[in-house]
Amino acid sequence: MLLLIDGVSRTYTDAHSTVHAVDDVSLQIAAGEFVAVQGASGSGKSTLLLMAGGLLKPDSGQVQVDGQDPYGLKPDARADFRAQNIGFVFQQFHLVPYLSVLENVLAPAMAVPGTEAETRDRALQLIERFGLSDRQQHVPAKLSSGERQRTAMARALLNQPKLILADEPTGNLDHDNADTLLGYLADFAADGGAVLLVTHDDRAVACAQRVVHLQNGRIDQAVASSA
Ligand SMILES: Nc1ncnc2c1ncn2[C@@H]1O[C@H](COP(=O)(O)OP(=O)(O)OP(=O)(O)O)[C@@H](O)[C@H]1O
Ligand SMILES: [Mg+2]
Repeated sequence: MLLLIDGVSRTYTDAHSTVHAVDDVSLQIAAGEFVAVQGASGSGKSTLLLMAGGLLKPDSGQVQVDGQDPYGLKPDARADFRAQNIGFVFQQFHLVPYLSVLENVLAPAMAVPGTEAETRDRALQLIERFGLSDRQQHVPAKLSSGERQRTAMARALLNQPKLILADEPTGNLDHDNADTLLGYLADFAADGGAVLLVTHDDRAVACAQRVVHLQNGRIDQAVASSA
């Protein structure tokens, strides 16, 4: 299994309330699989994705990416592991504001071996594939939302990860750009990668081999079994 999520839960607590954002969710994704996650706003989709990506430790339960528990690693080793194995597209992009498109796409390369020229070529290819060639020197503030989203996608792919975790990556894209991105993800899975995609987009769901429905932090079995 490329991604194994076993009984994970996560609660957010503050002075006023406790939210069971994700409650005992299990999910397995093999190499070559493309899985979509759907659910209402607040159902725990982003929280689940962050836990799968080694970015948010579950309160209980286990995560393994390619056989490795990212939370069993020290912070530096975990960051390296994430950079080498996981491409993450955040719902809010999280681009570095003072870096250009090209520099943002290149940012994850610091954590992996390889020559600078090779990496730069790969970055430029991704930038071209996502239609950003004439924007590569722009900083994020000078980009449209869709351009930022495509930059975030290119950055996630730079290190040729095994697993892509993407949070509504077509939310700001027109049809053509959404098709390009979904085509890329479908190819990525067909080549043996694994994709877990949070989406409200029917076309993204159509690309998935499996759809998981979250409701109040739990997998909705009724919907899952009828799908
Ligand atoms: N950092 C946080 N602190 C407190 N509560 C949080 C935090 N992050 C999320 N929550 C709460 O946890 C629940 C799940 O949030 P999450 O962001 O995972 O939902 P989501 O399904 O991604 O929603 P959306 O579709 O709106 O992005 C929500 O009730 C949310 O308010
Ligand atoms: Mg979300």
